[in-house]
Amino acid sequence: MMELFNLVENLTNISGPAGREEKIRSFLYKEAEAYGDELFIDALGNLIVTKRNPAGKKLLLAAHMDEIGLMVTFIEENGFLRFSAIGGIDKETLLGTRVIFSNGAAGIIGREKLKEKEVAGLSHFYIDIGARDRHEAQEKVKIGDTANFYPLCQRTGSRLIAKSLDNRAGCALLLQALKNLPATLPNEVYFVFTAQEEVGLRGAGTASYQLAPDFALAIDVTRTGDTPEPEYKMDLSLGNGPAIKIKDSSVICHPAIIERMIRTAEKNKIDYQLEVLERGGTDAGSIHLSRAGVPSGALSIPCRYIHTPGEMVDLSDIAGGISLLVELLTEKW
Ligand code: CO
Ligand code: ZN
Repeated sequence: MMELFNLVENLTNISGPAGREEKIRSFLYKEAEAYGDELFIDALGNLIVTKRNPAGKKLLLAAHMDEIGLMVTFIEENGFLRFSAIGGIDKETLLGTRVIFSNGAAGIIGREKLKEKEVAGLSHFYIDIGARDRHEAQEKVKIGDTANFYPLCQRTGSRLIAKSLDNRAGCALLLQALKNLPATLPNEVYFVFTAQEEVGLRGAGTASYQLAPDFALAIDVTRTGDTPEPEYKMDLSLGNGPAIKIKDSSVICHPAIIERMIRTAEKNKIDYQLEVLERGGTDAGSIHLSRAGVPSGALSIPCRYIHTPGEMVDLSDIAGGISLLVELLTEKW
């Protein structure tokens, strides 16, 4: 577990807002290099690691490596930065949040005082980088620069708290499965670390078009129903095993894939949960609609506080997901 913790910690410490995945991609490239027959970075920045078997079915596995972030839109006269969201930023968690720019510049998010009953919008917030005026701010950042939440990975028992566990937890699962697999597989498998999921499942769509797989699985986090929430019911908890997705807002998973995943989990006595996510999507959403359609499913890691600076997962769910994926990939599809 310590090894897995270290891998997830390393992954969450790296920056990679959607469209600016260079740093996280080069880390994954180095980690995966020894385990793939071929590595390729495509036009949108997806990292594609292939394990060849021309005689087998073609399986695409997609874990997005990008994270949500902020982009500078305007620099005020007094040096404060206005910004736009990259992906689904949760306004409730912005005030007082630390951010770091890709060039290392540090900042903290402030908010204008609200009038009575006024609801905060993104336009009420600004990033304070400690600059005295616009000129000083411009020495540190420019329009279009990106930032992400400041990384800090904490462990509490088997659980982890960190930024970007969506989807570095999924990247860890996919990478570790790749490392644990034997040299030759009964299928041809594409391990794809996708770009730009958080802005609309973009990288996965072009990767899928290019690779033309027979089947696909997305690997991502999903919400849970195990926090104080009287109104909202979801039958998923941290620590009860990885989840086999049935449906979310982007995809209705193919029944044959769901059935295969359940059968493999039960045969190998791996704990699993069934996921119906009422709001949210993942890479399978664009993959299953590519070309003439691709039967798709998803393996999910339960995660609390998604899209906040402190997301939480249980290491045992990631470990269970690794076992299930390894078993699935050593079967002939
Ligand atoms: Co997300
Ligand atoms: Zn995600």
